[in-house]
Amino acid sequence: MRVESKMVVEVRQPASLPEFYQCEELQRRIWGTENPVPAHILIAGHRNGGLLLMAFEDGRPVGFCFGFTGRDGDAAYFYNHMLGVVPEAQNRGVGYLLKLKQREHVLNAGFNLIKWTYDPLQSRNAALYLGKLGAICKKYAVNYYGEIRDALNAEYESDRFIAEWWLNSPRVLRRIKNGGKHLELSDVDSRVPHALESRVDGCVRRAAKVRLDLESERLLVEIPWDIGFIKQLNLKLAIDWRNKTRAVFHEYLSRGYMVIDFAVQEDEKRSFYILSKETDTSST
Ligand SMILES: CC(C)(COP(=O)(O)OP(=O)(O)OC[C@H]1O[C@@H](n2cnc3c(N)ncnc32)[C@H](O)[C@@H]1OP(=O)(O)O)[C@@H](O)C(=O)NCCC(=O)NCCS
Repeated sequence: MRVESKMVVEVRQPASLPEFYQCEELQRRIWGTENPVPAHILIAGHRNGGLLLMAFEDGRPVGFCFGFTGRDGDAAYFYNHMLGVVPEAQNRGVGYLLKLKQREHVLNAGFNLIKWTYDPLQSRNAALYLGKLGAICKKYAVNYYGEIRDALNAEYESDRFIAEWWLNSPRVLRRIKNGGKHLELSDVDSRVPHALESRVDGCVRRAAKVRLDLESERLLVEIPWDIGFIKQLNLKLAIDWRNKTRAVFHEYLSRGYMVIDFAVQEDEKRSFYILSKETDTSST
């Protein structure tokens, strides 16, 4: 986690009405959206069982997360709808601090699970959610939101992982204890086979070899280091990444694998999900 020592980051609930309105501006800056979730929804949600947390760096708002109670049959959990950090404060551990504070509040409210969706092709999100926080994914949803017209999501289908963060699981407690350190590819057994691997194509990598017939306990699935850059450069290549990863995740998740971790090869700017056949979710 790279919180720069001279920066003081405070994570707390909004203390006044204007702070709720600051979250509209944060959304414009983070997602490039012209249609932020309005402050009145954040206010109503926060005051009725939801939770809005904001991060302030030296007193200036730089990020927030917002969620509410969710229910699936008899099971109740907390559902996080938005987490965002402004570009100039990203990669310094602010997202991690917001999630840790959210975990504290949600545990106090009596829940032991937080769920959210995210785009499986967003490598930094995967590093934070699976790598640093210890969330897992068992479900892949095709085009979950339909078309989203913001700068991060426009122009290709909004496939999502449903992330599950089991707040008191051994996996999560271990991650918190080690300060949210994520894996390097060199930490992963080199015999673990690749269900999807890339090859260099000009200044980016393209999804290349796909294998849907593997049976081993663990699998690696590569994703792009920076899907946003690929989208800008060549939308067809980004769509190809979407289609190939969709096929791979659909195949293995429907066969009972789950996504349990994430590893990077930082010098090569490569990113890999780790899938496992482990079915004992009590140890997750
Ligand atoms: C996703 C987001 C909330 C994360 O917040 P953040 O403050 O940047 O996250 P953190 O700094 O705690 O963690 C990010 C980690 O990813 C690493 N990282 C950065 N770019 C990466 C990449 N391309 N691939 C893999 N890891 C990457 C960082 O180095 C950091 O790990 P470290 O602490 O071990 O160095 C923030 O980047 C953001 O707002 N993004 C845009 C909006 C968005 O996608 N929101 C989530 C929608 S579900």
